[in-house]
Amino acid sequence: MDHDDLAHWSKRAADWTRDYHAGLRDRPVRPDLEPGAFRKLIDGPVPEEPESIETIFDDFTRLVPDAMTHWQHPRFFAYFPANAAPVSMLAEQLANAMAGQAMLWQTAPAANEMEALVVDWMRNALGLPGSFTGTIHDSATTATLTAVLTMREKALDFQGATDGLSGAPRLRLYASSHTHSSVDKALRLSGIGQNNLVKVPTFGQDRRWSMDPDALDRLIRDDVAAGMTPAGVVLAVGGTGIGATDNPKDLIAVAHRHGLPVHVDAAWAGSAMICPEFRDLWQGIEKADSIAFNPHKWLGAQFDLSIQFLRDPAPQIRTMGLRPAYLETLGQDEVVNYNEWTVPLGRRFRALKLWFLLRSEGLAGLRSRIRNHVTWAREARDAIAALPGFEIVTEPILSLFTFCFQDDARTAALLEAVNRDGRIYLTQTQAEGRFVIRMQVGQFDCTREDVMMAPEVLRDIAARL
Ligand SMILES: Cc1ncc(COP(=O)(O)O)c(C=O)c1O
Repeated sequence: MDHDDLAHWSKRAADWTRDYHAGLRDRPVRPDLEPGAFRKLIDGPVPEEPESIETIFDDFTRLVPDAMTHWQHPRFFAYFPANAAPVSMLAEQLANAMAGQAMLWQTAPAANEMEALVVDWMRNALGLPGSFTGTIHDSATTATLTAVLTMREKALDFQGATDGLSGAPRLRLYASSHTHSSVDKALRLSGIGQNNLVKVPTFGQDRRWSMDPDALDRLIRDDVAAGMTPAGVVLAVGGTGIGATDNPKDLIAVAHRHGLPVHVDAAWAGSAMICPEFRDLWQGIEKADSIAFNPHKWLGAQFDLSIQFLRDPAPQIRTMGLRPAYLETLGQDEVVNYNEWTVPLGRRFRALKLWFLLRSEGLAGLRSRIRNHVTWAREARDAIAALPGFEIVTEPILSLFTFCFQDDARTAALLEAVNRDGRIYLTQTQAEGRFVIRMQVGQFDCTREDVMMAPEVLRDIAARL
């Protein structure tokens, strides 16, 4: 393929994209496929001779979409959304076309300076103090890993990365059982060890399952008394299962009293903070040391793009940054080289899609989408609560709630049948000791009608079980 062919096929791809999105409502959200079925359709030896793009493109359109779960489907109510506003897809195409690599300022000046700008824009849009700076990662998992590595190094006086952990004190981190598994993973990968993630008891629904600050305080003291070294606290604002939200104000106060840094995982709920009325959810956030937030979830920046805000980037740069001779940018001591803030050296030009998105939709446009989602989630909650045999188990936090149908077995059977039906897509979790179905509303282009189809489908299928 040469660049003329690329231009031709890009237009074909653009037409296909339009038709694909226009037809999403007519597709099942999730394909009803057995594992291995798709491999059978494409199996064969690696091609020795070139094939025509016509053939490859045709195979793609015939085979791939029917074997995909459609994350941009307006009735995707599972997990959390991975919204890709059309304008962010366009920006991604342009970033791909330049195929730059933004490891250093001098390898991609525009990408580097746009990254700083969009991080500032988002900080202001979320109502965070101007003292926060930050960077862009691929995912919240990486942002959290980076924060945990920095906690480890601070606790070890920046000796762990050089000397290793053997002989080091036993480090401890604190989080609730509602935090995302990426926190457990970060402890595994950082060498701190998953068993050193202390799960702090939480309050109930009336306090959004926040960790109890007194329990946190007591557990830190107990660990110190037992000769261990507390290294940091991780808070959830909008946890994955049921939206559990730690109280930043009280918990950060406890952590800081013990000299511990605090990382906040607001991967999903962070987007809602562009609406001032939702900010009571993270009151006190301005004292956090690090905050992870995924514009690739609810906001609409094509996957992947996670922002980590930092109150002071210096400890993270000290932890992550290496400057071998070949990465010196001679005569440019004043520039920021973001590879020193993050895990990989090579970095994609992710800022472009956020720059396009924020300019094209405007904060006002994005706010009204999020407000609609929260309102419609509550309407769907009420409609589901009114169905015979259904019970709301956890009330909406923003646009996420859970429910069950009679008992655990019937709830699981209902979920399976709903997802085989394909009109909507829902997933499950455990809450209040029960198997529950989660529903979140947040797909970029969903309408009230799409959302209110969920209770209809549930009533239909429950009646047939
Ligand atoms: C609250 C929360 N934190 C972290 C993550 C991990 O996000 P990522 O896929 O960007 O690593 C998720 C994923 O859904 C999440 O819901």
